[in-house]
Amino acid sequence: MTTLHLVLGDITRQRADAIVNAANSSLLGGGGVDGAIHRRGGPAILEACRALRASSYGGGLPTGHAVATPAGRLDALWVIHTVGPVWQGPDSDPDPLASCYRASLRVADDLGARTIAFPAISTGVYRWPMADAARIAVETVRTLPTEVEEIRFVLFDETAYEAFARHVD
Ligand code: APR
Repeated sequence: MTTLHLVLGDITRQRADAIVNAANSSLLGGGGVDGAIHRRGGPAILEACRALRASSYGGGLPTGHAVATPAGRLDALWVIHTVGPVWQGPDSDPDPLASCYRASLRVADDLGARTIAFPAISTGVYRWPMADAARIAVETVRTLPTEVEEIRFVLFDETAYEAFARHVD
């Protein structure tokens, strides 16, 4: 049985088995959630990302894919890095964004994670409209079989929270 929860707050302060990072394909950090996770999580996360770039992800992490590293100083066992699509306008294909949630849950299942915290992927620097991103996020995780018991969306502001709340009864 998987429950869905919404939280208003900073994802780097969450306690969860896995915290999902809205990364970029370089896996070498950035702003927004990415910057916050690396800042609070500390250098161990970047070291693990660098090791991934030196091995199985030489070309970087493709959009819609997900990969786990240790969580450093975060109150979590793993960070699951996933790369959202950049919004290209009203005809943007929603599947790569849905794939971020699917792939992250698949990684969480492989790890045996029981709780996972997601940010609103692609809705910041990558400019995906919040209402549409919230619909894609909730619809995707709702229809996906997973062993994860708690899926938490951690929203950074009221607008985001309201957008997700519209889809979670
Ligand atoms: N906790 C929870 N949510 C946060 C936090 C935080 N600490 N910081 C930002 N957010 C929210 C933003 O308000 C936005 O709604 O996360 C959402 C995603 O925003 P971004 O972090 O900009 O991620 P994204 O739009 O997917 O862009 C990814 O930005 O930081 C770079 O390296 C990253 O290139 C990548 C790109």
